[in-house]
Amino acid sequence: MRGSSGPRSSLRARAAVPEQQKIKWDTVRRTLRLAVPHAGTLLLFLVVVIVSSAIGITYPLVYRAIINEGILKQNSALIVRLAVLIAGLGVFDAALGLGQTYLAARVGAAVVVSLRTRLFDHILRMPLAFFSRTQTGALVNRLMSDARGARSAFTDLLSNVGGNSVTVILIAGALFALSWRITLIVLVLLPIFVLPARYWGRRIREVTREAYDAGAAMSSMMVERFNVAGALLSKLYGRPAEDVTAFEVKAQALSRTGIRARLYGRMFATLLILTATLATALAYGWGGLLASRHVLDLGTVVAIVSLLARLYAPLMGLSNVQVDVMTALVSFERIFEVLDLEPVIRERPHAMTIPAGPIRLTLENVSFSYPSATEVSLASLESIAVPEKRVKRAVLHDISFVAEPGQLVALVGPSGSGKTTVTHLIPRLYDPQTGAVRLNGVDIRDATFESLRARIGVVTQDAHLFHDTLRANLRYARPDVSDEEIRAALRDAQILEVVEALPDGLDTLVGERGYRFSGGEKQRLAIARLLLKAPNLVILDEATAHLDSASEIAIQRALERALAGRTSVVIAHRLSTVVRADQILVLQDGRILERGTHGQLMAKAGLYADLYERQFAVAAPETRSPASDRLGSGAVRS
Ligand SMILES: Nc1ncnc2c1ncn2[C@@H]1O[C@H](COP(=O)(O)OP(=O)(O)OP(=O)(O)O)[C@@H](O)[C@H]1O
Ligand SMILES: [Mg+2]
Repeated sequence: MRGSSGPRSSLRARAAVPEQQKIKWDTVRRTLRLAVPHAGTLLLFLVVVIVSSAIGITYPLVYRAIINEGILKQNSALIVRLAVLIAGLGVFDAALGLGQTYLAARVGAAVVVSLRTRLFDHILRMPLAFFSRTQTGALVNRLMSDARGARSAFTDLLSNVGGNSVTVILIAGALFALSWRITLIVLVLLPIFVLPARYWGRRIREVTREAYDAGAAMSSMMVERFNVAGALLSKLYGRPAEDVTAFEVKAQALSRTGIRARLYGRMFATLLILTATLATALAYGWGGLLASRHVLDLGTVVAIVSLLARLYAPLMGLSNVQVDVMTALVSFERIFEVLDLEPVIRERPHAMTIPAGPIRLTLENVSFSYPSATEVSLASLESIAVPEKRVKRAVLHDISFVAEPGQLVALVGPSGSGKTTVTHLIPRLYDPQTGAVRLNGVDIRDATFESLRARIGVVTQDAHLFHDTLRANLRYARPDVSDEEIRAALRDAQILEVVEALPDGLDTLVGERGYRFSGGEKQRLAIARLLLKAPNLVILDEATAHLDSASEIAIQRALERALAGRTSVVIAHRLSTVVRADQILVLQDGRILERGTHGQLMAKAGLYADLYERQFAVAAPETRSPASDRLGSGAVRS
């Protein structure tokens, strides 16, 4: 469904080649390393397992004693004592079983928490390009179901491999001791089971990977439709019936793989029950014959059959080990795949701090094109990355300018000319291919992320707010602010009255992405957030939305507070901004075509004058229309 069928089907095809079916030892090693911090618990687990297995083989031996020494010799006292012993062992065994499950679950849970936290941390460090290319839902799915898969792998594998192998060894030993002849014959039956198991193991692994992909496709669709922007779009433009059909197809794909997985799993169980029944038939048949000829005693035959019955469950578990290991490795591989993505934008080892204080911003011969999927190293994540089709093309060419401390630089130009891109390079959301961005002479690639973040404040056009209280949203910029400071910032941003009129004030829950507030209110809240952060360099994408004159004036006042005394780069859509700018840069097709003050550029009668005639001159708040307010609406593009 999603994307083209090309890359996905090729992915599927590759899953079937032998190279993928082998155990990747590197993955195994990394997985085992996750267990190292839990070595103590694991050791305790092993002890519990061994004791519990030992108890398991004690029962048949007690049965044998009851029959041979008690029943056949009519020793009632012994019969009662042994029966009580069996009951006691049962209670103890049950307790051990609980303990075993608890220990395995605890280690599994700890591993899941650490994996999820590492994934979350790692993903947050990825550059913006990563997020613009991945599907949120699929990514969330990796944190959720793959990590869950990894946990069950850990838990099941522990109980399975640890517990069952000990049990099988002990039972096999006991069987041999009781009657090596019957045991040998029973063992001959094993290959009947083991050989098909390998085949089904492979199938199950394939189906698991498919199930994860199908789950990711389904969550992607849910995440896209359920966030407010997606829901709004689908309400306004969507065809619900088609969306539902598309969803149903994805949900069905998921459940189809589910059915196959169950069926394949059942194959195992069937094979095993069959083998176990055959073994029991053999044991009773041949054992019975031997007993009737007094070669074997009755108690031993019963003990053998009872041991065989106990052999069946652990053997089934063990025969599934290959599948379990493979399934687990799929989960771990998918998690490691994300953890292995190197963020292309990284802090240098000895990065320096840019001290607080006035900032001089310099762009030196900056050329830039957006990175391709391979460059953001997403290629390995084909299934959740957006496939690349278009050819790479330079978006910015040789951009140079200086914003002196306290100066206001305005960026204007047609839509798509690269204004937003310029502002992306300053907080290092992307690194330019050539040239450098400097703050007070320091190349930002040599600066710490923390100091960059602290010095630069950005207000985007579509100010984002988290689904949390207003207070939490504002504190996101600076966690230690008091309510007093928040109120002062809100006042300066001309939004205090609005907030105080809300019944819950600062405790008001903001809807997802701030959908509870109007565009103008949201932008003023974003300005308040910026004021709290008090950066030295402000980047602002002025709203293009139509505002009534009252909010226009409010925003203007708020901006004056925000920009006062700070170096600022503003993507300007307002006459008032361009007129007071110290320098206006006119961009077209990623190049600076003209630069100067409003007066100088008007005198030049070039592109700026043209834009001014079309856009700014009619931009008095009361008279303009929404369309004319958008400086870069494309009218000037050709
Ligand atoms: N993440 C991206 N990946 C690839 N290309 C991009 C990306 N973002 C923007 N572009 C391209 O870069 C060019 C410049 O885009 P930019 O957003 O900087 O324009 P703009 O001047 O801000 O336009 P507007 O006034 O419409 O906001 C456009 O051609 C756009 O298609
Ligand atoms: Mg833009």
